Amino acid sequence: MYVCICRAVTEAVVRGCIADGARTVKDVVKRCEAGSGCGTCVGKILALLGTGTSELGNSLQHSA
Ligand code: FES
Repeated sequence: MYVCICRAVTEAVVRGCIADGARTVKDVVKRCEAGSGCGTCVGKILALLGTGTSELGNSLQHSA
């Protein structure tokens, strides 16, 4: 199942990135580019990272 349509990245690939040490969305973007397009899939990536939406909330707070 695709997590990121823009970059055609599957859940298995994102899980592989996490197994390889990715701990943030930026880490996942660096490894497989998932999340580097429209951003719609960022919530799914966060869910796979196990951080829920807290990282997104923090980044929004910091950018405000
Ligand atoms: S669906 Fe992943 S960046 Fe657009």
